[in-house]
Amino acid sequence: MEKWDIEFSHLDAGYGARPVLRDVSAVLPAGKISVILGESGSGKSTLLKHIIGLFRPMGGVVRIGGEDIFSLNSAKFRRLRRRMGVLFQDGALLGALNLAENVALPLSEHLDLPQILLREAALRVLAMVGLEDFAGYYPNQLSGGMRKRAGLARAIVAEPRILLCDEPTSGLDPVTAARMDELLLDMHARYPEMTIVVVSHDLAGFRAVAEHVLVIRDGGLIFNGSPEDLVNSRETYLRQFLERRSGDSGQSLQRPMNPVVRSALAKWLAS
Ligand SMILES: Nc1ncnc2c1ncn2[C@@H]1O[C@H](COP(=O)(O)OP(=O)(O)OP(=O)(O)O)[C@@H](O)[C@H]1O
Ligand SMILES: [Mg+2]
Repeated sequence: MEKWDIEFSHLDAGYGARPVLRDVSAVLPAGKISVILGESGSGKSTLLKHIIGLFRPMGGVVRIGGEDIFSLNSAKFRRLRRRMGVLFQDGALLGALNLAENVALPLSEHLDLPQILLREAALRVLAMVGLEDFAGYYPNQLSGGMRKRAGLARAIVAEPRILLCDEPTSGLDPVTAARMDELLLDMHARYPEMTIVVVSHDLAGFRAVAEHVLVIRDGGLIFNGSPEDLVNSRETYLRQFLERRSGDSGQSLQRPMNPVVRSALAKWLAS
């Protein structure tokens, strides 16, 4: 299997005229698990959306396997896009389809295969994420953690070269989150050439899975290196981030309730 690095070169990105990412240059190496860390709103998902070519950069380029994705013609772009599996933040399962159908979707959309083979392919990856017994369940009959695992199964059903996971552990309890991390490590072991990118603000998770780390702050890349170097960094913001301390947002949370609102509320609660 070919290995595909993901490379950002002076990437500027945003929505409409509004810039979000500024001058991001980094390589996410093929065959490794890279973790993109940053506070909420820093631009992590935006970076991910630019890897899958959902938006065109405002400046700079994104190269995958050495190719500028926006220089490809549409047939080549689609061919590239097929080799990427994405686990969206909420699993993004279709409510009208059961798990097996959801998971088989990347295949059934494009391949003319008999139902029985599609189902078998879905069951194979559902088994990898421990959901084989739930193949007939609908998304609303599952827990959040199960939906995320199903989303992971769907992301890998077509054996992508690039696996992108947006917050695979957010909203999960620590035990379920740790199991999700183990699943990612399993995928990494099973597909050693796959480029895996995990967007996260889960610091425990990053320690468990990361081989390469980017940290984004307000749209700028402030760290690009190994997890060991990040953990040993003396840089103030990185230390605060790793120790989960908030630098300056504390005060705004301390504002007292307006007394008029408070007394109206008290009257209502007592009524
Ligand atoms: N479709 C969009 N249109 C306009 N602005 C957007 C859009 N998506 C994101 N943004 C803006 O881009 C900035 C970065 O958002 P992004 O979703 O990349 O953050 P994030 O780091 O993934 O945050 P979180 O950890 O909360 O998921 C935010 O200020 C957000 O308001
Ligand atoms: Mg996000």
